[in-house]
Amino acid sequence: MTLIRRETERDRAAVHAVQDAAFATAEHASGGEADLVDALRAGEDWVPQLSLVAEIDGKVVGHVVCTHGRLAGERVLGLGPIGVEPELHGKGIGAALMHAVIGAADARDEPGIVLLGDPGFYGRFGFVLAEELGVTPQDERWAPHFQVRPLAAWHEGLRGRFDYPPAFAEFG
Ligand SMILES: CC(C)(COP(=O)(O)OP(=O)(O)OC[C@H]1O[C@@H](n2cnc3c(N)ncnc32)[C@H](O)[C@@H]1OP(=O)(O)O)[C@@H](O)C(=O)NCCC(=O)NCCS
Repeated sequence: MTLIRRETERDRAAVHAVQDAAFATAEHASGGEADLVDALRAGEDWVPQLSLVAEIDGKVVGHVVCTHGRLAGERVLGLGPIGVEPELHGKGIGAALMHAVIGAADARDEPGIVLLGDPGFYGRFGFVLAEELGVTPQDERWAPHFQVRPLAAWHEGLRGRFDYPPAFAEFG
């Protein structure tokens, strides 16, 4: 059985290891994803309620985090990285993490979640191309993969360029 829960201090090394393993074979990896999580955790844009782990038999096998970027002068979440142990891909763990983090963000009255990823995977969780909502990426080449999941607190004023927390430029 997979348990989804908030990350605690004791999980930090396991989270690092899981993100390293997940991105070791991933197509669009920078190689810095695990270090990115640590840098985000040390910064002011970290949201402890939105760093979640998937656990099976007491072992951390997946992790997702959302942190605060900026859009139209407001704090808006950016999702990433998300990673699952490679030998456990395709078993619904990534989907469970996505549903949990979206629900937790909505419950906090966060307006939305931005991410860069494959629309074929993230569309099923309600993500739409960001340009449909007037939201643009820092690099225009990202546009085909740049998506937003509007939440209950989304509003029309949220238009323009979304900026990830600065750590993404260093490790993302
Ligand atoms: C992306 C990831 C977290 C998904 O976790 P998972 O536990 O395998 O996901 P699930 O089992 O819940 O869902 C699997 C479904 O997602 C699809 N999928 C998984 N990764 C995908 C990707 N990168 N692009 C498109 N589809 C993907 C699978 O084809 C499968 O589709 P199906 O349900 O139609 O068969 C995992 O594959 C991973 O850790 N990848 C390496 C790191 C990475 O690329 N992270 C995302 C960066 S944007």
